[in-house]
Amino acid sequence: MDLFEKIENIKKEFEKNIDECLDAKRLEEIRTLYLGRKSEFTQILKSLASLPEETRRELGKKANDCKNYAASKIEELAKQLESRSEDKQRASLDVTLPGIIKKEGSLHPLTQTISRISDIFISLGFAIADGPEIETEFYNFEALNIPLDHPSRDAFDTFYIQGKYLLRSHTSNVQIRIMRETEPPIQVIMPGRVYRPDAVDASHSFMFHQVEGLMVDKKISFSDLKGILSIFCRSMFGEKTKTRLRPHFFPFTEPSVEIDISCIMCSGKGCRVCSGSGWLEIMGAGMVNPKVFKAVGYDNEKYKGFAFGMGVERIAMLSHGIDDIRLFYENDVRFLRQFV
Ligand code: PHE
Repeated sequence: MDLFEKIENIKKEFEKNIDECLDAKRLEEIRTLYLGRKSEFTQILKSLASLPEETRRELGKKANDCKNYAASKIEELAKQLESRSEDKQRASLDVTLPGIIKKEGSLHPLTQTISRISDIFISLGFAIADGPEIETEFYNFEALNIPLDHPSRDAFDTFYIQGKYLLRSHTSNVQIRIMRETEPPIQVIMPGRVYRPDAVDASHSFMFHQVEGLMVDKKISFSDLKGILSIFCRSMFGEKTKTRLRPHFFPFTEPSVEIDISCIMCSGKGCRVCSGSGWLEIMGAGMVNPKVFKAVGYDNEKYKGFAFGMGVERIAMLSHGIDDIRLFYENDVRFLRQFV
């Protein structure tokens, strides 16, 4: 058999092998067999050296052509095999299966309630302000006309830190801070945490949230207080909500009131939530006491104002029908997930 024939035979054998090849592993074997250093083509090419020039050129060309042909066939098949395995992977992916639902976090119900309250006051032209939770007696008490002998100054009613400092027992401290810093007109709400050493039960916590409000200008009257706060109650609890002002006492407002809304559970008929009265107490308010204006250095003749303060937990509990304040602080996702 001459070398020409031999090359032809190798080529045929190669074609058979490549036709039968079904996987990448076999293809690699074929590659080594026909293109490797010890392959028959290489052997033939090496043996050409001893042949006469003309035969050598012809045979060399033939052997090289076949080798190149084999190389291109192998590449072609390698590509095919690769795309076939991708198809297979794709086929094993069932796009009709339900997806994995990621559990998204959400705002805490108290944060949501503060946002709702803030949005209403923002729409009425109020700005939002912040103040410290660690406070001095001056801002928490004295400037608010709560003298030393006032019952709420009693150590049992306030968390004291090293004598002079305390954890604020209400957000009213921010009223003083703002008035000491700015001249009227003032129209702000001040949300934040407050602390009282109460025994924890279904309706008490040693820490809770309040939203304080303050509006001071030249011609603010009690009717502004009543108007703004009735609009707030209607926006917060529904258009049919009625408001009622009851005389009350706060050292920092004069006159002072407590504001009730018609019960949002029974619309005023009387139920368990409103203890049969048809009304729910929602906040304290009043005209800023001239003694407070004096403490911050405002001219009493020139300015009038009103202030109010509401408990965020109480509002959130009423809005959502939550009957235990402790649920807000336990971080139990079964509770929190209901407010997504
Ligand atoms: N600071 C009062 C409280 O904590 C609420 C209040 C604020 C009342 C402003 C009147 C005016 O009970």
